Amino acid sequence: MLGKIGLIGGGYIGGVLTQEIVQRRLAREVGLTDPAPFVNPDDPPERQEVQKKQSVAKGKCLDIAEGTPTIRSDVRCVASKDYSALAGSELIINTAGVPRKARPDGTFPSREELLTINLKVTKQVAEGIKQYCPKATIISIANPLDAIVYTLDKALKPPKNKLFGMAGQLDSGRYCYFVAEAAKISVENVNAMVLGGHGDDMVPVRSTCQIAGIPVGKFLDEATLAAIEARTRKAGGEIVGLLGFGSAFVSPAWAALEMAEAIIYDKKKIIPVCAKLEGEYGVKGLFVGVPAIVGAGGVEKVIELELSAAEKEAFAKSISAVSKTCAEVDQMLAAI
Ligand code: APR
Repeated sequence: MLGKIGLIGGGYIGGVLTQEIVQRRLAREVGLTDPAPFVNPDDPPERQEVQKKQSVAKGKCLDIAEGTPTIRSDVRCVASKDYSALAGSELIINTAGVPRKARPDGTFPSREELLTINLKVTKQVAEGIKQYCPKATIISIANPLDAIVYTLDKALKPPKNKLFGMAGQLDSGRYCYFVAEAAKISVENVNAMVLGGHGDDMVPVRSTCQIAGIPVGKFLDEATLAAIEARTRKAGGEIVGLLGFGSAFVSPAWAALEMAEAIIYDKKKIIPVCAKLEGEYGVKGLFVGVPAIVGAGGVEKVIELELSAAEKEAFAKSISAVSKTCAEVDQMLAAI
């Protein structure tokens, strides 16, 4: 159990995270921050007064706190509209920003199209962390994932083991689920990793995909696996299209908690995480999805896999997409 976990963003994912942390008793205290509802300067003054008093974070925390006697959990919940509820957090999970949302015509933006708005939010998030919990280990979920983690790194310059992104666990979970469903085998038996960037060029790594330790090719044919891997790359968008109001929020929260529990219990668990590479896989200075040992020290070691020629090529393509977005980040940060 940690002393305190801080959550930045109290929307859909932040709400599930708060609830799960309280239920699983992962810390003595959870601090939730979210500025919503925002005060709209164009609204009449009396409406603005109402908006100032309202707080999504405080409302969600009070709701959960009032349930703690029922579930017999002594985890305390604190909340704020500024970043003060983060004070003293040892672990931060960041979900601040705008998610993908279906447009009226059913299309939806790419994760990269969220960049402009979410970069501004991320600058504020970094200031909040600097002020209230500069030593915390940080797991970031906000999209575009690789670019937001890169931005936090530029702003905070933490030790490289203490800042990483959650994407690989979620994308791998999707890959495993589709394989289990097609093979009609328990999800508990399926292992697979998705690496690279958290965009449409992500790389479901076939050579890591096994059912009870047996290569997946024994259970599913080439065409089925190719279709599953294509669906995995677009799985986030599939949910955005179905929900209509936003993007996936339960599976991302659970995936981040998989990483959080590896830290809290010093599990030394191999998890695909978005980690800073300094030469591994031939990449320098970018945050990319790779398998890593996660424990009390955060990302304790990046594992370099022997990829097949096709996997290497797909990985290189994914890295070049991440690199392009980070170059845009550099330009945009200079302008805001
Ligand atoms: N500081 C803190 N929180 C902020 C800020 C800010 N500067 N700006 C916005 N937020 C809050 C919003 O008020 C909102 O409540 O971030 C929250 C985001 O929650 P949702 O809109 O419900 O989005 P969610 O589904 O939780 O996804 C959050 O994770 O998977 C990614 O693409 C997704 O980037 C998105 C993030």
